[in-house]
Amino acid sequence: MKSVSQCWNIADLASLARKALPAPVHAILEGGADDESAMARNRAAFADYALVPRVLNDVSQVDGAATVLGQRLAWPMVVAPTAIAGLFHSGGEVALARAAAATGALFTLSAMASRSIEEVAAAAPGPKAFQAYVFRDRGITRAQIQRARAAGYGALILTVDVPIPGNRERDRRADITLPPRLGARTFAAFASRPGWCLDKARHPMRLANFDDHCPRDGTSLSAYIAEQFDPTFNWADIAPLRRLWDGPLVLKGILRPEDACRAAAEGVDAVVLSNHGGRQLDTAVAPLDVLPRTVEALARRGGAAGAIQVILDGGIRRGTDMVKALALGAAGCMAGRPGLYGLAAGGQAGALRALQLLREEYGRDLGLLGLTATEQIDAGTIWRVPGPA
Ligand code: FNR
Repeated sequence: MKSVSQCWNIADLASLARKALPAPVHAILEGGADDESAMARNRAAFADYALVPRVLNDVSQVDGAATVLGQRLAWPMVVAPTAIAGLFHSGGEVALARAAAATGALFTLSAMASRSIEEVAAAAPGPKAFQAYVFRDRGITRAQIQRARAAGYGALILTVDVPIPGNRERDRRADITLPPRLGARTFAAFASRPGWCLDKARHPMRLANFDDHCPRDGTSLSAYIAEQFDPTFNWADIAPLRRLWDGPLVLKGILRPEDACRAAAEGVDAVVLSNHGGRQLDTAVAPLDVLPRTVEALARRGGAAGAIQVILDGGIRRGTDMVKALALGAAGCMAGRPGLYGLAAGGQAGALRALQLLREEYGRDLGLLGLTATEQIDAGTIWRVPGPA
C-alpha cells in the first residue's frame, strides 16, 4: 500500500499515516491519556451492538442526507476539531475543510488551528462550525468567536472537557514543541521521514488564531494549554457565551445525562457526547455507552419536539459505527482521527479519501439494511448482542 487510492478503509489510511509521520508527530495524532483504555473502549463499544437488516425493500435510491446543527448535510458527519492539523501535512485545516465540503460533511475548525479562521472560511465552501475554548483571558475567546461569526461559521462548539490537560504520555515522550524543533532525542525520527520534513518547510507551523498571544518558540503544546486554559470555567460562563452567539451553540465533551439536560436548560442547542477521543480522563465512559440514557433523559425533559440534538464522537471508523450511533438516538456523528490519517497519508486527497470511504460505507450500509434514508434508522435497526432470546 503506497498511495491513498490503494487504501480501502480507515485502517489502511492509518497505516499509511504511520509510515508518513515522524514517530513523535504520529504519537500526537494517535495518542490517548494514561493507558489509553478510554480510547480503546470508544472503539470496542460498537462491537456490543449488531445490525438487523430488513429484506425485500427497494433500495435502488439511497439518500444518506441528514439535518445536523441546523444544516442539511449529504450524510450525518461532522469533522471534529483537531488542533494544529498543519503538523500532519502542510495543507492542514484548509485541506480538511475542503475535503469535508466535497463530501457534504460539516467541518469544525479548532481554536488551536494552524490556519486562520478567515483563511479556512475563504478556502473552503460548505457548512462550518468554530470550536472555542475558554481561555484565562476571556478576551481571546470572545475575539475568536466574533471573528468566526464575521467569517460565516454557522455553529459554535464549545469544548468543555479540557479544564486542565490530560496525561498524554506519548506526547510527553515525543517532546514536540511549537514550532517543531529538532533536538538530539528526535533527530533520528525526523531524519527517517524526509518527505514530512520537506512538506513542513512549505508552511510555517503556528497557532494561527491567537494574534500576539502565540506561544513562545519552543513551548510544548501541553504547557501552553496549562498556561492558557481556564480551570475555573463553569456553568455560569455559558449564559454570556449564549448571549454572544445567536446561531446553534453546542457543548462538546458531555458524558453525563444530567449535564446534557443542564446544557439544554442553559439554552444550548446540541451536545457532543465525547471523551475527547480518549485524550483527557482515561477510563472515562465511552460516549456510545452513555448515548441511550442521554437521549432518554433529554426526551423526558423536553418532549419529542423540545429535545436537543445529540452528536456521538469517538471511535467512528466505519459506516456501520455511524448507523449504530444513529440507531441509539444520535442526530449525527463526529470523527477526528480518520480525517487526520487521510491528511497525513496524502494531504487533501488523503483527507478526501478518508471521508469518501466513510460516506460510501454509510450509504452502502443503509442499502444493505433495507433502508433508503437516514431518517429510517430506528431502535429496531440494532440489537445489543447477544440480542433478545
Ligand atoms: C483532538 N481533539 C480536539 N478536540 C477539541 O475540541 N479541540 C481540539 O483542538 C482538539 N484537538 C485534537 C487533536 C488531535 C490530534 C486529536 C486526535 C483530537 C478531539 C477531537 O475533536 C475528537 O473529540 C476526537 O478525535 C474523537 O475521537 P476519534 O474520532 O479520533 O476516535
